[in-house]
Amino acid sequence: MINNENFSPELLDAIWQNQTTSVMLLDKNFTVVYANTSTSELLGLATKRLLKQPFDTLFNYHSIDLKRIAQFSLIDGVDCQQHRADVVFSDSRHAKVSVNSRRINFKGIAYILLECRQTDDEIKHDQASNQMHQYQAARNLIRGLAHEIKNPLGGIRGAAQLLQYEVDQQERNQCAELIIEQADRLRELVDRLLGPNQLPQKSYVNIHQALESVVKLSTLDNCTNIELKKDYDPSIPDVFIDQSKIQQVVLNIVRNAQQALIDGGEIKIKTRINHQHRRPGKAPKKALLIQISDNGPGIDHSIRETLFYPMITNKEGGSGLGLSIAQTLIDQHDGYIECDSWPGHTEFNIYLPFAD
Ligand SMILES: Nc1ncnc2c1ncn2[C@@H]1O[C@H](COP(=O)(O)OP(=O)(O)O)[C@@H](O)[C@H]1O
Ligand SMILES: [Mg+2]
Repeated sequence: MINNENFSPELLDAIWQNQTTSVMLLDKNFTVVYANTSTSELLGLATKRLLKQPFDTLFNYHSIDLKRIAQFSLIDGVDCQQHRADVVFSDSRHAKVSVNSRRINFKGIAYILLECRQTDDEIKHDQASNQMHQYQAARNLIRGLAHEIKNPLGGIRGAAQLLQYEVDQQERNQCAELIIEQADRLRELVDRLLGPNQLPQKSYVNIHQALESVVKLSTLDNCTNIELKKDYDPSIPDVFIDQSKIQQVVLNIVRNAQQALIDGGEIKIKTRINHQHRRPGKAPKKALLIQISDNGPGIDHSIRETLFYPMITNKEGGSGLGLSIAQTLIDQHDGYIECDSWPGHTEFNIYLPFAD
């Protein structure tokens, strides 16, 4: 906190000049009225060469949407954000910047306060981290697969060897049975990996009835050390879904929560209507939200980034397919599933868009 006595315009100017974000003040014609040191560093232009210049002339190229800023920030007074705008500075350097604009009124005149932050490093870091996680997930997948294939394969080989020299018909039959059994196990594995392959059979469904069956199936009702809390919005209309598939999704998530709550705890199932559900790359839509949360230890850091990949598990004997199947089924409904977790809290949010 600033003590009032020390509060001076010099201090304010020092704060403004020392900000690592580029901050500019533009008038309504997008002419630079004021700019801090970071702006001149970012643009590679001395402050003197910035002031009174039209914004467009500061770059060789930029994709910052000035029309949108003029409409939203200047006229409507709404803050605007643009991520990953491309800019080419006058010295030909290229960068990606994230831009925030806000209107400020001073002595009856409206200005735009524009903040620009170079985000190349963050993007590169994200890409590198994504790549690493994908690599790890692929390795885990291969390791898990190798493990699951090797066992039945060993059995098949052993049985075939016995078969070669066995004369007793009963023994031969037993070997043949073993081979068939292990071959079936392999086929099941492949089927599981390929995921659900039938198209959803949709109908109008009362979501709360569907959820109640899941609760029964998961025997949560008579599980003593886990408390189940329901928070349903009774006004939710019927949704057009494949009931059994959505039940499968919820069951997979509830089972995980049960397994995480070894020392007991609480699982909450909540339903809501989300009027403006934002979907990546699509227009917002009215959606049903099913939220399943627990107060267990949280999702292990090492698998958080690849949680929905197949064969990601840290359970003894876990298949690591529950969430990957859930994701496939939700995709088939044009829905969206996400997870938020920290120690003491894990929540899965499932969004299912309502039919038009
Ligand atoms: N509610 C939860 N709390 C803590 N960890 C969880 C939770 N849900 C899922 N996980 C983690 O996610 C992993 C993947 O889950 P899943 O795909 O269902 O496979 P599996 O249950 O066979 O391990 C689990 O092994 C577990 O580590
Ligand atoms: Mg599971």
